Amino acid sequence: SKPLSIAVAGLGTVGAGVLKLLSENADIVAARAGRPVVVGAVSARDRTRDRGVRLDTLRWYDDPVALAADPGTDVVVELIGGSDGPARALVEAALKAGKPVVTANKALLAVHGAAIAELAEARGVPLAFEAAVAGGIPAIKALREGLAANRIRRVAGILNGTCNYILTVMREHKREFAEVLAEAQRLGYAEADPSFDIDGVDAAHKLAILAALAFGRPVDFAAVHVEGIREVSALDISLAEELGYRIKLLGLAARTEAGISARVHPCMVPVTAPIARVDGVFNAVVAEGDHVGRVMLEGRGAGAGPTASAVVADLIDLARGRVTPVWGAAAGVLNGAPSVPMGRH
Ligand code: NDP
Ligand code: HSE
Repeated sequence: SKPLSIAVAGLGTVGAGVLKLLSENADIVAARAGRPVVVGAVSARDRTRDRGVRLDTLRWYDDPVALAADPGTDVVVELIGGSDGPARALVEAALKAGKPVVTANKALLAVHGAAIAELAEARGVPLAFEAAVAGGIPAIKALREGLAANRIRRVAGILNGTCNYILTVMREHKREFAEVLAEAQRLGYAEADPSFDIDGVDAAHKLAILAALAFGRPVDFAAVHVEGIREVSALDISLAEELGYRIKLLGLAARTEAGISARVHPCMVPVTAPIARVDGVFNAVVAEGDHVGRVMLEGRGAGAGPTASAVVADLIDLARGRVTPVWGAAAGVLNGAPSVPMGRH
């Protein structure tokens, strides 16, 4: 049957990873998608850079927003990043043109998610974002599908691979913060501006998205309390260890009597707790449902392969015609959204 033709905007860590995965696993992707998934068009800033993938047969656009109007494109994949600028312009243009969008951009969804979801739902165009939360962990699918029968009371987790990598390497190898951050950047884990990682903002973006899905509320990033790991020293980490604790940057969101509380900050976690043993670039997503109880998913939270795995899973769903409403209606009805705003409690 007719291939699903995609346009990929952004050919950095994730974009190049998606092209590589689609080429190496073309057979199983086609089998599971019911048809081949092929890249037809791409966009990035630098045409000359070697990205380790073949681009010479593809339609190249200097302006990513123009991909939305590419006549051969069925689905637009936005992997540029940033809550505004070309990423937002492209996603909006694609949805307005009736083209389904797959994005890994948590900043965009946390800041403008409600408006973008409204646009997608009003036009009946799918918007998929599995890769935006916890890299390769299928957290969005788990919340929306696997746990759909539950009222979710709490979602929490280690939601930033860069911070968890830094804290782990500082603890295990007694290395300096700045040196380990540079390594996380080289490995492709960090955001283009790594202060988003180390100041907790990226984890807060993801927590806002998880909370919106879990509690059936529009995302309200501004209401998340955010604190990062800049102030965590090697001494803090070793003193915590002596007392039987690990320092982890956690995101915690809960449904309370007063509304929804959502916060990100470093926590002392007992070494015996399962989440304390989630180390390196790994993330963990914990959800607590009224019937299922506690569920914890663990896996690589950043990097080319894990993130591409999530992006391509969305493409397979779209190729199959499996489409979930963005988050408004379904999540709200299923989880009985409280009528108070998200905030600090
Ligand atoms: P990179 O910085 O590695 O890549 C960004 C890409 O976008 C580059 O190819 C760059 O072009 C292109 N780009 C940037 N600005 C423009 C512009 N103005 N016009 C056209 N192209 C532009 O980012 P990542 O691949 O790491 O991240 C991409 C997205 O995925 C982000 O939203 C990020 O938050 C998200 N994400 C990243 C993960 C990771 O582990 N890295 C994991 C999960 C999500 P050029 O290469 O020519 O400079
Ligand atoms: N910079 C992010 C992280 C990428 O380190 O977790 C994955 O979203």
